[in-house]
Amino acid sequence: MLRIGFVGWRGMVGSVLMGRMIDEQDFQGFEPTFFTTSNVGGEGPDVGLDIPPLNDAYDISLLSSLDIIVTCQGGDYTKKVYPKIREVGWKGYWIDSASTLRMNDDSIIVLDPVNKNVIDAGLSSGIKAYVGGNCTVSLMLMALSGLFAEGIIEWISSMTYQAASGAGAKNMKELIAQIHVLGKASSALLDDPGSTAIAIDEVVTKELRSNSFPTTNFKAPLAGSVIPWIDSAMESGQTREEWKGFAETNKILQTKNPIPVDGVCVRVGAMRCHSQGLTIKLDRDMPLDELSEIIEKGNQWVKLVPNNMESTLKFLTPAAVNSTLTIPVGRLRKMLIGPEYITAFTVGDQLLWGAAEPIRRILNIIINYS
Ligand code: HSE
Repeated sequence: MLRIGFVGWRGMVGSVLMGRMIDEQDFQGFEPTFFTTSNVGGEGPDVGLDIPPLNDAYDISLLSSLDIIVTCQGGDYTKKVYPKIREVGWKGYWIDSASTLRMNDDSIIVLDPVNKNVIDAGLSSGIKAYVGGNCTVSLMLMALSGLFAEGIIEWISSMTYQAASGAGAKNMKELIAQIHVLGKASSALLDDPGSTAIAIDEVVTKELRSNSFPTTNFKAPLAGSVIPWIDSAMESGQTREEWKGFAETNKILQTKNPIPVDGVCVRVGAMRCHSQGLTIKLDRDMPLDELSEIIEKGNQWVKLVPNNMESTLKFLTPAAVNSTLTIPVGRLRKMLIGPEYITAFTVGDQLLWGAAEPIRRILNIIINYS
């Protein structure tokens, strides 16, 4: 029976992964071992099985006795442990949600509804590192997989509206703490039917600019504002999040002629769904109904949302998509710029298709392959 180790199962992505694995009854047919970086001997997660106490996530000899290791522990852990475990000659499969190994030549970025062919080729050629992609890139590819498969995209500009969860669990809490401060400060005015919006705005702006406003994690107000900067600076003038658009899209698809992808990545006050406004340059003029059909048939999770107000408000918002696997694509239309230009808007759960789900699915693919 395959022996599979889980590291980082308690964090945000890890716990969403555990939840999905339990929902899909994935915990069968293999022997799971759970690891910890801080609580050796403690109790593992409730996955409906009798499991032994937690093991030390730095125990290279135990780790290297396993067939597969799944880690959602983060990049620092991967940086420390991955070279060591390979150094001792471990030949098992390493499945990772962190970005550390993503751009290595001997790793595959996994998003099987989009690149199952690349994954299959990787498995047959003996690649042993399978890494989840950047959430924004994965969600964009899930939304447009039909168009990519058709090979008609010349370039894409993606303007993103990224949720607090992408920055981490503390940031999600900070967003709500910020909202709470603003709500408290304006509550008397809100209760007064005669108060003006301008008066409320004055109170809110004062709070947003106050030194006591909770910004430890975001370094700036997000509630009542947006932050047009995600991750570190690159020499190109992009942020690293923007840089990943081109690099990861083309690695995931293993394109022969790289498809340019670029845009501005912006943090907004959504909880866990990233949204993207897309400008797509096609290599030809095609009727919109044909394009709609291609997009909708891309994969079973894509849902085309009619370009009208009622459907958009009902189906095409983070509030509607939160905690689901659905990838709505809407606001689809030809742009005035020219007949080969289309625009679309898409939303996806950053913790599901953006993080845990590709990891859950590659684990099953590798189990079936092994
Ligand atoms: N880097 C992403 C973000 C999340 O900050 O939203 C992880 O892919």
